[in-house]
Amino acid sequence: MLDIRTAPVQPAAIHRADYRPPDWLVPAIALEFDLDPARTVVRARLEVARNGEHDRALRLDGEELELLSLAVDGQAVDPQFEDGQLVVPLTGASAVVETEVAIRPQVNTKLMGLYASGGLLCTQCESQGFRRITWFPDRPDVLSRYRVRMSADRQRFPVLLSNGNPVDGGEGPDGTHWAQWEDPFPKPCYLFALVAGELSVNRDSFTTASGREVELGIWVREDDLAKTGHAMRALKDSMAWDERTYGREYDLDRFNIVAVSDFNFGAMENKGLNIFNTRYVLADRETASDADFDAVAAVVAHEYFHNWSGNRVTCRDWFQLSLKEGLTVFRDQSFSEDMGSQAVERIDQVRTLRAAQFPEDAGPLAHPIRPDSYIEITNFYTATVYNKGAEVIRMLRTILGPDDYRRGTDLYFERYDGQAVTCEDFVQALEDASGHDLTQFRRWYSQAGTPTIRARLVQEDGAAVLHLTQSTPPTPGQADKLPMVVPLRTALIGRESGREVAGEQVVLLTEAEQTVRFEGVTEPALLSINRDFSAPVIMQVERAAGELEALAISDTDSFARYEAIQELALRELLKGIGGGEVQADPVIAALRSTLLSNALDPAFKADALILPSETMLAERLDQSDPSVVHRVRDDLRAAIGTALRSELEDAYAASSRADPESLTGEDKGLRRLRAATLGYLAAADPERARALAAAQFDAARTMTERQSALGMLAMVGGSEAEAALGAFYERFKGDPLVIDKWFGVQASVAAEDTIERVEALAAHPDFTLANPNRLRALAGSFAATPFAFHRADGRGYEWLADVILKADAINPQTAARFVPPLGRWRKVEPGRAALMRSALERILAAPGLSKDVFEQASKSLG
Ligand code: ARG
Ligand code: ZN
Repeated sequence: MLDIRTAPVQPAAIHRADYRPPDWLVPAIALEFDLDPARTVVRARLEVARNGEHDRALRLDGEELELLSLAVDGQAVDPQFEDGQLVVPLTGASAVVETEVAIRPQVNTKLMGLYASGGLLCTQCESQGFRRITWFPDRPDVLSRYRVRMSADRQRFPVLLSNGNPVDGGEGPDGTHWAQWEDPFPKPCYLFALVAGELSVNRDSFTTASGREVELGIWVREDDLAKTGHAMRALKDSMAWDERTYGREYDLDRFNIVAVSDFNFGAMENKGLNIFNTRYVLADRETASDADFDAVAAVVAHEYFHNWSGNRVTCRDWFQLSLKEGLTVFRDQSFSEDMGSQAVERIDQVRTLRAAQFPEDAGPLAHPIRPDSYIEITNFYTATVYNKGAEVIRMLRTILGPDDYRRGTDLYFERYDGQAVTCEDFVQALEDASGHDLTQFRRWYSQAGTPTIRARLVQEDGAAVLHLTQSTPPTPGQADKLPMVVPLRTALIGRESGREVAGEQVVLLTEAEQTVRFEGVTEPALLSINRDFSAPVIMQVERAAGELEALAISDTDSFARYEAIQELALRELLKGIGGGEVQADPVIAALRSTLLSNALDPAFKADALILPSETMLAERLDQSDPSVVHRVRDDLRAAIGTALRSELEDAYAASSRADPESLTGEDKGLRRLRAATLGYLAAADPERARALAAAQFDAARTMTERQSALGMLAMVGGSEAEAALGAFYERFKGDPLVIDKWFGVQASVAAEDTIERVEALAAHPDFTLANPNRLRALAGSFAATPFAFHRADGRGYEWLADVILKADAINPQTAARFVPPLGRWRKVEPGRAALMRSALERILAAPGLSKDVFEQASKSLG
């Protein structure tokens, strides 16, 4: 009876405009868990208080709960249900409502609520998982003080953790023990957490600016303890950074992180007890690449920063998700920029935005960073809410300047501490603290779509005039767009002198058309615009002949210099895809001088070498044939590899001096350059690359080198590839995170027969649909490899649709993440587009589909 899956014919949408404050508040809750994977009993004691004058009943959310008893003020009550909610009529201003339920963690494959993972019991409550633990008003604007008592078998579950501080504990009957925890900070139920199991801990401590001692713990399986050092360092760095940069100090006596291997997302910021996907905690030289190390640090920082941006000040409703996620991503990005190389971090951020968010904004699932409606909120944990949300905060800082921005965030945290608020409240705080009028800027919260900015510089009579226009394309539900506020960091660079003839300033574009004059510019000038990617827009600049070539070697802003090289390549690639002739020479010249520069660091060189992705190219066109896109890009890579052969060989050889023990920007940059140069050598001469990659694989001292060599071998194929894949598997078969790489590398090969390999891998004994990391490693990697995924016969689409349907029966929220690649059909030539549509139609026709997949598939068909 518990297993019946609701199969709504047409699940209802929830609208932001319908928000109403809660009828009942729950100032305090006491929970008691008799933990057992097969059947856990949860007793909840809610102190409820009527919120305002009304006579409405208390309504509690619940899902897959077996109700054992219900009492109000100590009296047993017969339960009434309505629309899946438990309805409790109450007469007074307050009451004590007690429930007892049974839940089944062992069969909880959705990984929401209380579930079992590798012998542990753990929770995930954001967004609406708490209702799978007990009856409760499961919404973020109901904040409660929590007291939690956990009891479990002492042998199997020696460690019992929850939010806040441990206050009591002891032995119980029949080999059980118990612990009681209390969290002094009122919190929404999505921040509740508990963990029980056999865990080892890496302990450390941090002294806050005001001199309080915080005990830190990272809890993992015993075998993984040696891999927690990097996360611990990142945690301490984050704590110090947030004090320095935002004046935010940690507020509890302990901060715990637990790593679990079955997890729907990256990590979760539960108050004082962050729960992480192992992938973002564990790292050592043998098993983690530089990218993994960086991701661990960034996610640790992200979750830690949520303690203020999310927990102390939380969201009123889930439409406000970007209030905490956009702000927290911006904070973790700033942290990474401060700890590493600003330019390199920024390039990575923009690459992610273009790969994940621009396509979303241009497709059927486009939504503003503050959506207006949803069917299933889990589908809105998107690159738009997170990454574009972060860009919006970055623009606010650019417009206000760092000092006013800081005054604004100080006011925000002070004014709303302990409250559940809206995006509007955040903007209001910035406005009040700075005196800036952000009326028009607010459109970034309500309008979807990526603005396109056209720019043209005209020079006359000792001045330069910048002509700007903007337009934002229609998106679902939003036909007409108003002009946005677009902060464009702009400088003019003398064509001959190479110096800035107009120093950088922020040009604020607010109208559909606007001109800006730069006086006293006599020398012919190059336009350097949207420097540091100051606005998340598509720039289309009318350039004079030779202008991009000049900027590519002389722009004084690193990001803009990178962009010039990208634009140069993009221009030629788009020409080639359109059937024109590609001029490789300007691209080759720009890359040659980049490679040979003594001033540029290796990471920048590596980034500059990577041509615009196939996804980005497809985005710039109304419609394209993925195999043409792939061929044109590959041909240019081969031309570059051939023309720059000796420079690439030199750079490849020189990069071997990277110190394997070191994670400095220089050493990570050298390894990145090694991978990029190897890629070009392979494009030019697969035989030579095969030899180099095989040697690199055998001699690898870091996972970074081993993984990139393996990827290259898998790409060029042959017996060396099979041998390396076999050796890699043998060496790492006990380590799930590395086996994920093994699946991912093979599914990422840009080749027509990758689908056959992927189908075989899906039958591999190590493959399971139940583990989100493994599923992402195979299906996610494959769907992100356009040339492989878009095989002309549609076999890739069919496979993905099958996977989505099978995964939906296990874990709808993760299954739904794989739908968007099929929704890109409008951008694909008609033959494949029809096949993509029919895969979506087949998904929609399946009986018992979840709301999650229904929403994504129906919107994708549009
Ligand atoms: N708040 C988490 C973060 O740090 C993500 C949680 C996502 N979970 C979900 N069920 N949608 O970004
Ligand atoms: Zn977050």
